[in-house]
Amino acid sequence: MAGKWEEIDQYARQWIEEAGRRIRASFAEQLTVETKENRNDLVTNVDRGIEQFFAEHIRRQFPGHHILGEEGFGDELAVLDGIIWIIDPIDGTMNFIHQQRHFAVSVGIFEDGVGRLGYVYDVVFDELYSAQKGRGVFFNGKPLDRLQPVPIAESIIAVNATWLMENRRIDHRPLVRLAKEARGTRSYGSAALELAYVAAGRLDAYISPRLSPWDFAGGMILIEEAGGIVTNLDGKPLNLLSRNSVLAAKPGVYEEILQRYLRQ
Ligand code: IPD
Ligand code: CA
Ligand code: CA
Repeated sequence: MAGKWEEIDQYARQWIEEAGRRIRASFAEQLTVETKENRNDLVTNVDRGIEQFFAEHIRRQFPGHHILGEEGFGDELAVLDGIIWIIDPIDGTMNFIHQQRHFAVSVGIFEDGVGRLGYVYDVVFDELYSAQKGRGVFFNGKPLDRLQPVPIAESIIAVNATWLMENRRIDHRPLVRLAKEARGTRSYGSAALELAYVAAGRLDAYISPRLSPWDFAGGMILIEEAGGIVTNLDGKPLNLLSRNSVLAAKPGVYEEILQRYLRQ
C-alpha cells in the first residue's frame, strides 16, 4: 500500500492538473473581475471556482485535513496542528487577467507546521514544480540540482519595482544598492512562480516585504527541499498564519543579502 504522503501527493497532483485544465478552458469564457482590498487587488470568478474545487475535493477525500485559502473557501485556523493545505488557486491574478500567462496554482501541505508536499504549477506552460520533504525537488517529474552558493555580483534578484522606490512598507535604499550590485533584477508578478524559479536555480533570490501564506506556502517547501533558505527580512521563520515579509534565496546569497543589505 502506498504511504500516507504518497496518497496525498497523488490526489494533490490530480486536482492540480484538473485545476489547470479548468483555468485553460476559462480563457474561452467571459471573466468576471472584482476588486478586493484596493483597486489593483483583483479576483475573478475563476480564482473562486478553483479554490472551491480544491476545498470540495479535499473535504470529501480527507475530512480530517484543514484548508487555508485566499478566497474564503477554507477554514478559520488559529493553530497549525494537523494537516493543512495552504492554497492559492491563482497566484498572479493580474497576469491571468491582463496577460493570460505567468500565473500559477500554488499548494503547500503541512503537518503540524512542517512542510511536507509543495507544488507550483505554471498553468499555461504546463510546468509543475513539486517537492516531497526529504526527496528533493522535481520539474515536470525530473529531479532538479541542489542549490549551490553564489555571490551577489553573479546573482539575479527578483524584486518588484515598487520596493525600489519610496514606499510605505520598507526602506527602499538598501534594496536599490542591492539592485545595482547584483548582476540583474527581474519581476514576474507571481510570487509563487518566482519562488519556484529560486528553487529551480533560475533566480538566485526573491524579496517581498509583504506576502500572505498562500503566496509562499508551496514555493517555500520547494526552496527548502532544494537547499535554499526562506525567512522573513529579519532572518526569522515565516508564520504560516499571517502576512510576512519574505527573503528566499540560495545559500551564500541569502546570508549576503541579510548581512550586507538588510541588517544595516
Ligand atoms: C499576488 C502575487 C504578486 C505579489 C502580491 C500577491 P495574487 O498574489 O503573488 O506577485 O506581489 O503580493 O498578492 O493576488 O495574484 O494571488
Ligand atoms: Ca497570491
Ligand atoms: Ca490568488
